[in-house]
Amino acid sequence: MEKLRIRGGRPLRGHVPISGAKNASLPVLAAALLTAEPVKVSNVPRLRDVHTMLDVLQALGASASFCSEDEVIVKADTIDNLKAPYDLVKTMRASFLVLGPLLARFQFVEVSLPGGCAIGTRPIDQHLKALEALGATIELKEGYVTAKIDGRLRGSLIDMDIATVTGTQNALMAASLAEGDSTIVNAAREPEIHALAAVLNDMGAEIEGAGSDVIHIKGKESLHGCDTRLMPDRIEAGTFLIAGAATRGCITINGGCHDLLDAPLAKLRQSGAEVTVDGDYIQLDTRGKRPRAVDIRTATYPGVPTDLQAQFLALNCVADGTSRVTETIFENRFMHVPELSRLGASIESDGTTATIQGVPSLRGANIMATDLRASSCLVIGGLVASGETIVDRVYHLDRGYEHIEAKLTAVGADIHRFNEG
Ligand code: EPU
Repeated sequence: MEKLRIRGGRPLRGHVPISGAKNASLPVLAAALLTAEPVKVSNVPRLRDVHTMLDVLQALGASASFCSEDEVIVKADTIDNLKAPYDLVKTMRASFLVLGPLLARFQFVEVSLPGGCAIGTRPIDQHLKALEALGATIELKEGYVTAKIDGRLRGSLIDMDIATVTGTQNALMAASLAEGDSTIVNAAREPEIHALAAVLNDMGAEIEGAGSDVIHIKGKESLHGCDTRLMPDRIEAGTFLIAGAATRGCITINGGCHDLLDAPLAKLRQSGAEVTVDGDYIQLDTRGKRPRAVDIRTATYPGVPTDLQAQFLALNCVADGTSRVTETIFENRFMHVPELSRLGASIESDGTTATIQGVPSLRGANIMATDLRASSCLVIGGLVASGETIVDRVYHLDRGYEHIEAKLTAVGADIHRFNEG
């Protein structure tokens, strides 16, 4: 079992390169199933979730692998299996993104139900509702979703009850190959939706309005290959900036994602950090000052993303003052609270809102990661704490942060991975 040993108490200073976005890479790789022609994707992060998606594509019969350090080519001209098995889907919910493209191209698909996960029950009813609106017949049997249609999917109005990110992406991909026009109402507005729509348009789709809550799609009979580059990972960028603020450091990141981070940057400024944007670069400088407590309420884009809630909570643990962090997207996303308490943080949580009384310092302890973003918040806790922190179950971190120890070491952290037991 791999663990991280962090000797904290050092301000982070320097430049962190930002990788391509995990949550843009997964739908784009799934979208390659919509065509038999090659789709080449660059700026792909080497993450466990990306490798899981490549395994899913290979299990379906596609060729899908890295052809250079950060480029992947997917060629789905030999699909011979329309079943995405439980073994793969259970390790990553986003595997469910193959549902829309396979159904649209092959008129049949079977995908294992993803099940619950550490951050909540996370149903998939809206994904299914969208495909039913396009004419699919859906059956749930023995833990699998089976979707089928006679002939092509038929363009239609898709009225989402909840703005879901991957649900909107499944609907977009399916509607791109449907016969006739579709409109998605109450679509999610996250930038990764816009990024997927841009790739689909490069493949010959005709999509307008992605990034707003109403998206129009003119269905096409076929799509073709393309060559595309992924957007930067706004959550990775936000995580490093928050780590800089929590450790009273000075961090510069590149990647050009400042326009995707308006709300988190406003919160970091409110915490007392100087945040400047220069072209593709964002610099955060605390001038060695302790952060001020900031209230956080997660929201869909362009609000503060739920994927940065845990990291802001870690910042508030050592901030001056009392803060409230409210989670509005997932019902169970405070698993990091008891672990931060082990470092000496003072937090009370009612399951939706955590009230944090900032303390001047934390002390190292043994703590355990429970999900991806909780892991990065615990790393921030360890970077801030005096003495030694051991973070267990770091495999969660490898799902979404590329070369995290190397990137943190380069800005002055004392962090090492080791194997135990
Ligand atoms: N929901 C439903 N029914 C559905 C779909 C969603 O009730 O059919 C609910 C969920 O339970 C949740 C809310 O809608 O309460 C929003 O969930 P959403 O579907 O938008 O989440 P997702 O698509 O499963 C993506 C990201 C998550 C990120 C959320 C919210 C990917 C691969 N995953 O998940 O990223 O937290 O959007 O922004 O894009 C992460 O990277 O750590 C991560 C969890």
